[in-house]
Amino acid sequence: MSRSAHPAGPRHADVLPEGHYSAPPADLNALDPKVWARTVGRDEHGVLTVGGIDVKQLAEEFGTPAYILDEADFRARARAWRTAFGSDADVFYAGKAFLSRAVVRWLHEEGLNLDVCSGGELATALSAGMPADRIAFHGNNKSPAEIERAVRAGVGRIVLDSFQEIVRVAHIAQSLGKRQRVQIRITVGVEAHTHEFIATAHEDQKFGIPLAGGQAAEAVRRALQLDGLEVIGIHSHIGSQIFDMSGFEVAAHRVVGLLREIRDEHGIELPEIDLGGGLGIAYTSDDDPREPHEIAKALTEIVTRECEAARLSTPRISVEPGRAIVGPTAFTLYEVGTVKPLEGLRTYVSVDGGMSDNIRTALYDAEYSVALASRGSDAEPMLCRVVGKHCESGDIVVRDAFLPGDLAPGDLIAVPATGAYCRSMASNYNHVLRPPVVAVDGGGARVIVRRETEEDLLRLDVG
Ligand code: LLP
Repeated sequence: MSRSAHPAGPRHADVLPEGHYSAPPADLNALDPKVWARTVGRDEHGVLTVGGIDVKQLAEEFGTPAYILDEADFRARARAWRTAFGSDADVFYAGKAFLSRAVVRWLHEEGLNLDVCSGGELATALSAGMPADRIAFHGNNKSPAEIERAVRAGVGRIVLDSFQEIVRVAHIAQSLGKRQRVQIRITVGVEAHTHEFIATAHEDQKFGIPLAGGQAAEAVRRALQLDGLEVIGIHSHIGSQIFDMSGFEVAAHRVVGLLREIRDEHGIELPEIDLGGGLGIAYTSDDDPREPHEIAKALTEIVTRECEAARLSTPRISVEPGRAIVGPTAFTLYEVGTVKPLEGLRTYVSVDGGMSDNIRTALYDAEYSVALASRGSDAEPMLCRVVGKHCESGDIVVRDAFLPGDLAPGDLIAVPATGAYCRSMASNYNHVLRPPVVAVDGGGARVIVRRETEEDLLRLDVG
């Protein structure tokens, strides 16, 4: 079997996995602030509210399913990262987690930079007015057209991912009469996920140039010789949904080791290092993420210490959080369609979306929380599996969760922490229409990405 669990949600089994909570929470109406956006609460009738609006009103106005995004929370988290790293470092929001023009404007206003990894993300960033010099362009197979567009636009950096790309970008920049600022992405032999990291393996993947065997040093050597490139630094990204800083420690040690080699061989100290993204968030109450200021302090200390030991001046650090900024700021609002108890097993709760709006459970065995949103309830808890409306038994949104025993068709339920990698990975499977993203703030709500329509579907199908 080729399938393997994604570390973002490894606890998976047919009924309840070992170590999983086996008892229902004391109060099913309680909302753990770790997993819900900051302005989420309940009104006097127990109805979930966000940004001062109740979800029944949101469902009426915008329909379900819908991603409901707390703008104030997004801005606060973006600002917290910016402030934590201060003026000696740069925060690049990873657009792959979720990108829209409103998000680009918020980032711009809050002083963050943006990491894009395709022509589409670059187009979104530029069309919303992100200054090109605050954009980093990533990807392991950027097309010549994408590279040309990025160079012409004047992006602040292109992160080079292979020997071929070093030559390709240099050639395109030179032919446009430009010198492109670049970082070289290396694989340091560290892979970190959740509570653990593994060093020495994990160079067997498509991204970056391995440090092993002097390949990364050779890449730098070649890039330094090319007139079209200005090599500004080294990039390393070690994984996703990371809680344990020790993987970053080993990565920083190895990146700084390369900076020292470069200094010794070429007599230059590269001015920047990027340690990527991957910082974890809470999907359930079991997860314990760190605050941006703790992460900033830890990373800065690691890099400073390593550089002192190598007698290098400390380079400017950048980081690329995506999930940690947008993930907790949104929840998905669904309407319950059917409630099907299976004797001795659990109750299947079918909602009006599913794997087309959240593929993470099916793809990575990711875990989510869920709550009854349209009312409070004192009913006894029942063990549920929240499933979608797709023609596939793996169409699961929340594998195991307790919901009130009086749950019924027409109730609204909300799945928190769906801001990252849900809308951005949404599909049209079964020609189900992708939900809108609704931003709420200070008692107002507006659509920032509209719901897909059947006209949208048919427009692409040219018959
Ligand atoms: N920088 C680079 C170079 C990356 O490849 C990524 C994520 C990030 C930053 C942002 O990572 P974050 O802070 O958001 O974890 N679809 C998967 C996650 C894929 C992440 C890919 N790269 C998921 O849903 O868990």
